[in-house]
Amino acid sequence: MIEDRVISPEYLDEDGEYTEKIDEITLRPKVFAEYIGQDKVKENLKVYIEAAKARGEALDHVLLYGPPGLGKTTLATIIANEMGSNIKITSGPAIEKAGDLAAILTNLQEDDILFIDEIHRLNKAVEEILYPALEDFSLDIVIGKGPAAKSIRLDLPKFTLVGATTKAGSLSSPLRDRFGIIHRLELYTPEELADIITRSAGILNVSIDKEAALEIGSRCRGTPRIANRLLKRVRDFAQVEKKDKVDYEVAKKALDRLEIDELGLDNTDREMLQTVIEKFNGGPVGLDTLAACIGEDKDTIEDVYEPYLMQIGFLSRSPRGRMATALAYDHLGLEYPKK
Ligand SMILES: Nc1ncnc2c1ncn2[C@@H]1O[C@H](COP(=O)(O)OP(=O)(O)O)[C@@H](O)[C@H]1O
Ligand SMILES: [Mg+2]
Repeated sequence: MIEDRVISPEYLDEDGEYTEKIDEITLRPKVFAEYIGQDKVKENLKVYIEAAKARGEALDHVLLYGPPGLGKTTLATIIANEMGSNIKITSGPAIEKAGDLAAILTNLQEDDILFIDEIHRLNKAVEEILYPALEDFSLDIVIGKGPAAKSIRLDLPKFTLVGATTKAGSLSSPLRDRFGIIHRLELYTPEELADIITRSAGILNVSIDKEAALEIGSRCRGTPRIANRLLKRVRDFAQVEKKDKVDYEVAKKALDRLEIDELGLDNTDREMLQTVIEKFNGGPVGLDTLAACIGEDKDTIEDVYEPYLMQIGFLSRSPRGRMATALAYDHLGLEYPKK
């Protein structure tokens, strides 16, 4: 299951929630200069932030989307830092009722950043409160019931919403249309990840050589959160082996022991590909069927496994389902059937 995977991009309980959070905070870049990669997004945001600051206005609402662990929350905090604004952090599932959101909105100050993670999970009633808030910075509330009910409109301070989602497709179009700035985060290259690992190692006081950083960087499926987690695991191996430096050899050994292969695939990835190949002749197989076969959650397959397997060209998606490519057969040492 995803919870047990060392390469899971989500928080892991085994790390102890508290320590993991501390690490995420210490390793989290605070300004653009520390944020590695995503150059296009960064350059655009810098321009918009500079322009908004020069005009003395709040930044337009920002939507960030992409798979977990790529730096959406980090970017939200950087935007707040670069704007010199306060940030209030919440998430779609945490806002249960329209009144919860109304309370959050009325407590905002001028120029605040409101970060809503997993914004695709806002319910309809809550979303409807959000529309006028985003468009006119106003809040419509209904007082009383029945024929005597009266709607009043409150003015809100000019704030910026930063929304993050792993599923841009699940966002309703009226909500999506209210974001002036929409950016998709991409998986990172092994070189960018090596830079992230080297930076994190510095913060954690671990010395690591270039080859080792690149080895970890090429096995963390394009994801900084996984890169940082693998770095910590590799550090443990180095420590036990009494090495004062993480070198290529110990990095490789640790990653092999974790059963993460040269491409960053773990047992679950391989099992998924194997299922598509062996049980379904390479596909196409529908998402529901596949999820049931490997005992994994549909959303997890879509958000976590598939983006990387598709990025490296192992899986393709057609309207009829998922298909394993010749590259996937090759990687698993299986013969690709001539169709
Ligand atoms: N561009 C980056 N440069 C350096 N570290 C990064 C970058 N993006 C993410 N990270 C690291 O990865 C961790 C996870 O990023 P996060 O913003 O929480 O991802 P998301 O919100 O997209 O799931 C952060 O704590 C940070 O240490
Ligand atoms: Mg996040």
